[in-house]
Amino acid sequence: MTAAIPDLRHHTAVVTGATGGMGQIIAATLINAGVHVVTVARDSARADTLRARIGVDNEHRLDVIAGDLSRREDLLTAARIIEDRYEQIHILVNNAGAHFPDHRMSSDGVEMHVALDYLAAYGLMTHLDASLRRGRARIVNVASDTLNDTRRIKLAGKPRPPSLDLTHINDLADLNPRTGFVPFEAYTRAKLMTVTAGYALTRSFAPDGVTVNAVHPGIVATGIVDDLIPRSLRPFGTLIRRAMLTPADGAATALRIATDPRLAGVTGRYFNQGSVAVTPPISHDAAVQRKLLTLSEAHFAR
Ligand SMILES: NC(=O)c1ccc[n+]([C@@H]2O[C@H](COP(=O)([O-])OP(=O)(O)OC[C@H]3O[C@@H](n4cnc5c(N)ncnc54)[C@H](OP(=O)(O)O)[C@@H]3O)[C@@H](O)[C@H]2O)c1
Repeated sequence: MTAAIPDLRHHTAVVTGATGGMGQIIAATLINAGVHVVTVARDSARADTLRARIGVDNEHRLDVIAGDLSRREDLLTAARIIEDRYEQIHILVNNAGAHFPDHRMSSDGVEMHVALDYLAAYGLMTHLDASLRRGRARIVNVASDTLNDTRRIKLAGKPRPPSLDLTHINDLADLNPRTGFVPFEAYTRAKLMTVTAGYALTRSFAPDGVTVNAVHPGIVATGIVDDLIPRSLRPFGTLIRRAMLTPADGAATALRIATDPRLAGVTGRYFNQGSVAVTPPISHDAAVQRKLLTLSEAHFAR
């Protein structure tokens, strides 16, 4: 499936994770529709594969800024460069993400899922603020429906969303501690945080016409799923991947939410592929949202 994209010449989009499975297709599709795409890439060789995909005739529509989005300094530098270069941003797709199989800390002392799967999205939503508002941007956060259910094998029983208890948390560095660390839950919690912060930010963005929505792209055969397939099922990896969506199918959801004229003005929604879906009640809790924004702001103020 390939998404039908309207003509978007004179639009600027920031797409993260554009060197990977879905992001590469999101970026290339937007570029083919005339959009100028900016991305932040930590590996220049991987950025070259994106350049090869779009072809020399389209290279002038791609701007690659070097940086590791899990690092505060890199994110802030990239955001400053983007705001200096682009007066308006019309689309922001926070797509970069990863699942880490063990407990790792970012260079800023934050657990890696928090750093990459949450703070990178929060950081760009808030540090590209002026350009997003001037562009009346559509922000699309690529989340994951694992935020509704952390069980990897769902043969019986009720969905088990991740916990998000910020009551005694005074620093995001205290989230997902080493003791009792479960990688998959840490990943899902970070996605829940992204959706929660996105809901909270819709209120301040609304007067300027900026929308914030989140998506679950489906289960898609990209790099990230190799690690997510439980060890016991890895001998069947090839078969399992065949049953998954293609990266193009997965990319279609974010592309639609970012560009479909019928979705103009739609904000504060979570789309599970084609349909609006619910997220855990805690993501709508105003006190949790406030605390999360306060902690996140403090992280970037250091
Ligand atoms: N695949 C699925 O079934 C699925 C389901 C639900 C949600 N998602 C979400 O979809 C998004 C896209 O993932 P994908 O499936 O397309 O996986 P992918 O192929 O592994 O792509 C991940 C992208 O994120 C980038 N990235 C990772 N760490 C980064 C860092 N520190 N700084 C900058 N960029 C970084 C990667 O860059 P490099 O090229 O440098 O590695 C790559 O471009 C993720 O947010 C993921 O959580 C995926």
